[in-house]
Amino acid sequence: MTTTASEQSIADLKNEALAALEQASSADDLEKWRVEFTGRKGRLTGVLRGLGALSPEERRAVGAAANQLKNELEEAFSQKQVVSRESSGPVDAIDVTLPGRRPRKGRLHPSTQVIREMLEAFNEMGFQVVEGNEVEQERYNFDMLNIPADHPARDMQDTIWIDRNPANGILLRTQTSPMQPRTMEKQAPPVRIVSPGKCFRFEATDATHEWQFHQVEGLAVDEGLSFADLKGTLFEFARRMFGANRKVRFRCDFFPFVEPGVDMSIDWNGRWVEILGAGMVHPQVLRNVGYDPEKYTGFAFGVGPERVAMLKYGIEDIRHFFANDLRFLSQF
Ligand code: FA5
Repeated sequence: MTTTASEQSIADLKNEALAALEQASSADDLEKWRVEFTGRKGRLTGVLRGLGALSPEERRAVGAAANQLKNELEEAFSQKQVVSRESSGPVDAIDVTLPGRRPRKGRLHPSTQVIREMLEAFNEMGFQVVEGNEVEQERYNFDMLNIPADHPARDMQDTIWIDRNPANGILLRTQTSPMQPRTMEKQAPPVRIVSPGKCFRFEATDATHEWQFHQVEGLAVDEGLSFADLKGTLFEFARRMFGANRKVRFRCDFFPFVEPGVDMSIDWNGRWVEILGAGMVHPQVLRNVGYDPEKYTGFAFGVGPERVAMLKYGIEDIRHFFANDLRFLSQF
């Protein structure tokens, strides 16, 4: 359609087009508007076609106004399109023309993988898996484990407190050992359990210390258990995790809930790296849960799976485990 063009007709067309655009409320409306005003056979094109009938002077003035209007209408149209896409919500916003991409496959965290491997090893030695709470009562984390309130051994593990109630505080457990009294309270001997989970300590971090880490606790109580049973169990565990040729070292260590106490280290390129604490369950811990220490003996251990993973895979810094960097995590 050709329209006689004048600056007035262009101004009228502008007003009409902008008012109609304002009214457009759907993708359909917008398309209709585009066809009517700026499309190839639309009204603005009609105006431009009509320029030929004008004198050269008029043509210059009206032509410039028509071209300016063309730009304005196109700009107004694309802005309205953006607003309409945003307000129509995420379903309409999916760009179906994008080429498909293969979704990235997830995998288990290296700590979880090593914990599962450790549990399998202990499972085959007859240990049952039980789980506990990360938020724990002070009573189970310390008192029941023969660490009274004024005992300096509490300072060995810097505690993150939830509620420092003097009667019985609430804390983030510093070790999985509270699962010893919790399990024994619920059942009579014999006991043979392993308990994996997260622990937290308010401590400075370095290459082998994180403020959050896992432990796998082990506990066996029965008639006649001795230190030889503890050593045999831990040797077999080390053999399963590191192979038969890896050197293992036991040294005396102190934990108030065992007597005697030891720690176990694994040889890593000529260096000893401690992976666990262990010992024979202290008679007072057995008494605290109502077991008779004259009749029953037991052994317990607490292993750090991140340290085990570091040795198995040659990871030089424990802080990689919880830094959430996929370049590290996707290697396992
Ligand atoms: C304990 O936590 C005792 N509950 C272990 C135990 C259980 C002893 C039963 C006797 C009987 P310790 O603080 O040494 O002990 O920690 C045990 C293991 O947890 C360490 O050998 C290490 O592997 C791991 N671990 C401890 N602190 C950290 C830390 N900050 N970062 C990473 N791993 C740690």
